[in-house]
Amino acid sequence: MKMNNIRTIKGGVNLKGKVKVPGDKSISHRALIIGSIAKGETTIEGFLHSEDPLSTADCLRKLGVKIPEIKKNEPFRISGLGLNGFKEPKEILNCGNSGTTMRLLMGLLAGQEGKNFILNGDISLNERPMGRVGKPLSLMGGKIYGRERGNKAPISIDGNKLKGCVIGTPVASAQVKSAILLAGLKASGTTSVIEPASSRDHTERMLKAFGADISIRGELGRNVVIKSGGNLIGQRILIPGDISSASFWMIAASIVPNSEILIQNVGLNPTRTGILNVMDSMGCDYEILDKSTIAGEPIGSIKVKTSNNLRSFTIEGDILPKLIDEIPILTVAACFCNGVSEIKDAQELRVKETDRLKVMARQLQKFGAEITEKEDGLIINGQSKFHSAEVDSETDHRVAMSLAIASLLAKGTSKIMRSDAASVSYPTFWEELAQLTN
Ligand code: S3P
Repeated sequence: MKMNNIRTIKGGVNLKGKVKVPGDKSISHRALIIGSIAKGETTIEGFLHSEDPLSTADCLRKLGVKIPEIKKNEPFRISGLGLNGFKEPKEILNCGNSGTTMRLLMGLLAGQEGKNFILNGDISLNERPMGRVGKPLSLMGGKIYGRERGNKAPISIDGNKLKGCVIGTPVASAQVKSAILLAGLKASGTTSVIEPASSRDHTERMLKAFGADISIRGELGRNVVIKSGGNLIGQRILIPGDISSASFWMIAASIVPNSEILIQNVGLNPTRTGILNVMDSMGCDYEILDKSTIAGEPIGSIKVKTSNNLRSFTIEGDILPKLIDEIPILTVAACFCNGVSEIKDAQELRVKETDRLKVMARQLQKFGAEITEKEDGLIINGQSKFHSAEVDSETDHRVAMSLAIASLLAKGTSKIMRSDAASVSYPTFWEELAQLTN
């Protein structure tokens, strides 16, 4: 990540036009990973050409998977190695800034008997908790080591024989769930994961499409059961756009005066659409058009217009996993609603690419926002009048983009330091912003 980039954003402009959001980050990682352990070829279309999924591609190449150079907007084919085909790499597997890469690879590699792997990340990733994956994998027989008693990278994996287990995870995390499911393919018998609230289910959907024996049980689908082996066969995967990237435009069009944006190619998987529930309670003016399904995932376009009287909102409880990556931009939205909004039960935000509760509060206060930080969330006073400011992404991609949208509401010209962080998930964000403000 280049981290010296300063961008200047003029406030007081409006947003008009259409954008086609880039491929879903979560699904892009999974297409590469599941394609790698399938038999035969997998064709991937709509892949997100950004730093995080490219880190996964790079790690898989080091494990012996034939992945061609991935070019922007071009479909490509990978040849799967089956469940036992990875080689022990000579190099360290560099996961960059990507939690999904590191955590899913831990699950993927824990059962590769007799092979050793070392995973490393950037400064941010090496401070994030990995024990939440390492611990359940150890219950299955995994041998995972790392700094701070295995909780932090660099991580070392001593591939071992795994046994199927019933595992209750204390956090509703798709990364944890997915790591256990991937390990379950190599474990004996059946592996069952129970999570406290439903997290995104892209892994389950894709494994099923590749032919795995996987079933969803229990109250609200919180229990996922997978059988060993599963004879995965390569597929054609068409990746829908990322609703987490679309969310910057969905909120921008709602809060920036005189705006209207048609956002095309938005993945609408119900485990990801919590932001639409919040937009409903705010009273946003939006319409979903052209609904269809691609590769087992619902998709559509969203047309959003400015609303002048937005209501404050509360976010709490089981909805959190369905909008976990949208909290930074929803914090910006709350600044422009009538009344006081509250975000609760959001401790997870503290262990993302940055401590997003602290960083969003600190950066938005520079514009004049009234935000109080709580242990598990934020209290945000609405009807803010933002003045221009010099703000900083603090290296976090979603913070960079949220601050860009906030700058549009500020009087005068604002500066965003380390704005290049956006390339982790949305490399064309700045070009699209320029087009929409033209
Ligand atoms: C992701 C899951 C979420 C999300 C992250 C991507 C995934 O993390 O915040 O951006 O692809 O599985 P957690 O599993 O830690 O909640």
